[in-house]
Amino acid sequence: MKITVVGTGYVGLVSGACLADVGNDVLCLDVDPNKIRVLEEGGIPIHEPGLLEIVRRNVAAGRLSFTTDVEYAARYGTIQFIAVGTPPDEDGSADLKYVLAAARNIGRHMDGYRVVVDKSTVPVGTGDRVEAVIAEELAARGADIPFAVVSNPEFLKEGAAVEDFMRPDRIIVGADDKRAIDLMRQLYGPFQRSHEKLLVMDVRSAELTKYAANAMLATRISFMNELANLSETLGADIELVRQGIGSDPRIGWHFLYAGCGYGGSCFPKDVKALVRTGRENGHDLLLLNAVESANDAQKLRLVEKIVARFGEDLSGMRFALWGLAFKPNTDDMRDAPSRVILAELFQRGATAVAYDPVAMDEARRIFGDEPRLLYVERPMEAVEGADALVIVTEWKEFRSPDFERIRAALKHPVIFDGRNMYDPAIMREMGVEYHGIGRG
Ligand code: UDX
Repeated sequence: MKITVVGTGYVGLVSGACLADVGNDVLCLDVDPNKIRVLEEGGIPIHEPGLLEIVRRNVAAGRLSFTTDVEYAARYGTIQFIAVGTPPDEDGSADLKYVLAAARNIGRHMDGYRVVVDKSTVPVGTGDRVEAVIAEELAARGADIPFAVVSNPEFLKEGAAVEDFMRPDRIIVGADDKRAIDLMRQLYGPFQRSHEKLLVMDVRSAELTKYAANAMLATRISFMNELANLSETLGADIELVRQGIGSDPRIGWHFLYAGCGYGGSCFPKDVKALVRTGRENGHDLLLLNAVESANDAQKLRLVEKIVARFGEDLSGMRFALWGLAFKPNTDDMRDAPSRVILAELFQRGATAVAYDPVAMDEARRIFGDEPRLLYVERPMEAVEGADALVIVTEWKEFRSPDFERIRAALKHPVIFDGRNMYDPAIMREMGVEYHGIGRG
């Protein structure tokens, strides 16, 4: 099949590369010539395990190509994926200008039947707006060309996006056009060989499904974070409570890890957007409001612990910070807890020496030449001479460090662990003062 993917960000590039990998001809369009140049030179503009190899393999095979030419792109694929960003505007609602611009370009230049697929996370009702914009463009040039709009939300986790695309739990297709549904079935055939994973529903339900999934997961995390904070006061250990409830199949094991708050490009944005949609439609989503404010508070939790230990005034102190990315296996720092923590430390007069296996370039971009933030190439260098160690991201390489060395290198043998990576009993034995989340 011939496919166009509009947007070579995270979702677009992963989708385009994986669709090419099963034999389709895929053209990826981006308005940013820099991104296209990077791709044409054999690189990728994001960090995602396994993606570079797939992109290179399919470019070499002639199945994957890139362009900035909107007209060529609109004429290329029978299926046109829209996978552009929907950044939150000031009031928290998703900004649809890129989605609608992509739709407009398709309407302006398409020359035959098109299935226009919304992959971006968009508010319920966007499918109708995309349809209206395309119809408007067709009418403006007096063209009578059939098309269908489909909602096909992505459920890709950063760091595991290729795997998630190749082996999806489910494929949601929101559509009411039979021809479009058949094409989507054919397109996703190679990704559901073991059993049927494609769920067909109406466009609005598909759009809401995406928000519902992310909001549910965010709710679980905020719930566990609240219980973790309570555990500290009660003298309970949230890790044991997690195991105690996760073994109930009705609850399950996933997304029950307490920590220093969720970040990333999806949960914070999607929860906000859903709250906003609720408000616009006369529903105050009380639970989701609380999920969001609990998460904002949780990002301050480590700093509260630091202040409780060392006092409000941290001037002259230096903290080792392990992890900048919002989670492991990505360099993404969007809404990352590390940003809040660093800002709070600086405000109280402290400095930080940070280490992250991949996100340090991103941090340099975000913090510019911030003099209070230094970077080192090895985790142990950060610890050397620091007052205490703060762990923000659970990278695998932090799982089993040399605690003897850490204790000797720190001015105070104190670890603030926002990801509960270590066993408090072992830390006690090692003579490390250990502050986890909810390890009462
Ligand atoms: C998420 C969804 O999982 C994915 O399906 C959707 O398409 C996009 O949003 P992503 O943002 O990449 O994916 O990361 P995810 O692994 O879900 O983690 C989100 C945040 O929650 C991270 O900050 C993570 O540290 C935090 N988290 C996750 C917890 O604090 N506790 C948990 O138990 C799980």
